[in-house]
Amino acid sequence: MKRTKISQVLEQSEVGSSLIVKGWVRANRGNRFIQINDGSTIKNIQAVVEFENFDENVLKKVTTGASVAVSGKLVESQGSGQAVEIMVETIEVLGEANPEEIQKTVMQPKRHSLEYLREQAHLRFRTNTFGAVFRIRHAVSFAIHKYFNDQGFFYLHTPIITGSDAEGAGEIFHVSNLDPKNPPLTEEGNIDYSKDFFGKQVNLTVSGQLEAELAALALGQVYTFGPTFRAENSNTSRHLAEFWMIEPEVAFNDLNDNMDLTEDFLKYITNYILDNCKHDLSFLNEREIKEQQSKPQKDRNELTLVERLEFVRDNDFKRLTYTEAIEVLKRSKPYKKKKFKYEVEWGVDLQSEHERYLVEKEFKCPVILTDYPAEIKAFYMRENEDGKTVAAMDVLFPGIGEIVGGSQREERLDVLKRKCADFNIPEEDLWWYMDTRKFGSVQHAGFGLGFERMVMFVTGMTNIRDVIPFPRTPQNAEF
Ligand code: 4AD
Ligand code: MG
Repeated sequence: MKRTKISQVLEQSEVGSSLIVKGWVRANRGNRFIQINDGSTIKNIQAVVEFENFDENVLKKVTTGASVAVSGKLVESQGSGQAVEIMVETIEVLGEANPEEIQKTVMQPKRHSLEYLREQAHLRFRTNTFGAVFRIRHAVSFAIHKYFNDQGFFYLHTPIITGSDAEGAGEIFHVSNLDPKNPPLTEEGNIDYSKDFFGKQVNLTVSGQLEAELAALALGQVYTFGPTFRAENSNTSRHLAEFWMIEPEVAFNDLNDNMDLTEDFLKYITNYILDNCKHDLSFLNEREIKEQQSKPQKDRNELTLVERLEFVRDNDFKRLTYTEAIEVLKRSKPYKKKKFKYEVEWGVDLQSEHERYLVEKEFKCPVILTDYPAEIKAFYMRENEDGKTVAAMDVLFPGIGEIVGGSQREERLDVLKRKCADFNIPEEDLWWYMDTRKFGSVQHAGFGLGFERMVMFVTGMTNIRDVIPFPRTPQNAEF
């Protein structure tokens, strides 16, 4: 007989049917009631053992963490808490879990801090919280592919190793196989990258956008979904050195089309999770409610996790320009009371405290800010008529801050050349990008969604390290 997954047992199997379940023991009460989980759902199946009929030496090994195969009949449960349970006919221990070792791990049956669980990334998958988070992470990823596929986008694989620093922020990881102790040197004494593997200096990509633009100007609408790398030394709860980004790029779209696409896309993902991840979401919702109760009233969320998702799904995002946002901030209480740490001045980039004020206090909904000053945004964004601002957009989410960054692209060759000069970007290096503006250039636009920030939003996790299986952050690349 083949094993039946627990999700299927609970949703589809008929009472009276014989089946085999395999999984890991979550709890064993008196060698009689054994909770088994196989990862297919947050729910456990209860296996009931008539211990008089079983070998004591086998039962002794059915400890928390051990893997077991259980066969038996599905019956209506006598106890409360579950509708069905398995009356065990045979039980086999597939892999033992040493109780002494368990004492040193996250598998002792008690509540652990998320920080502690991070140190045991191999075992944190076994916890309810991380099981839920990673099943939802999968669902978000699937929803993204489904959305774009249904809309006629093509999934484009852009390179991970590249010579370009698309965002121009200089936060790149170099890739080289030269001997660091004895690199070849040029006559001037610099490292001679022409002798390196690729014959030039290359790095891990910070964004697939520039390559995606090439494809969009031929295939019409494409999206990337891949890992991106940033050597930002910001040890915050919202930054990773390795994260995943989704970057759609659409020919013939302007900034308004771009905002419409973003809003529709984010609502779709949110709705998909509400519809398809009910058990996991409800667990995380309860978890958050409990956690909130230990906080002072003023620090508690106004809405529960599920309410926040429903709110995003059902309400229009507030759209305003950067210039309007500066005015709003200057009229705000925290500004007047000098509560903001960072400066609020036209031309200066907004900090997360400003973004969160706009979203959480002023508008109380997701916000799309547009038309930022040219100097604080990337070279490829389209210059507006005023000559001072560009057709940029940032989407700001409650509890997260910036979740999406995007823009209409500069499609005019002469303006793009001037921008390269302004930003000190050697045009020759980007000849392949500049070329798209020479052969049938058109208006086009796109954006980048930080995948982990979206997963934070739909799971309610407040640290980005807790929504990626193996976080990479400054001073940390364990596992
Ligand atoms: O705003 P960013 O830098 O935009 C771009 O890279 C553009 N090329 C996107 C485009 O127009 N195609 O990054 C996009 C998003 C941010 O809004 C944020 O959600 C996420 O990527 N992000 C990070 N997420 C985790 N850790 C980091 N260090 C991140 N940096 C950016
Ligand atoms: Mg950005």
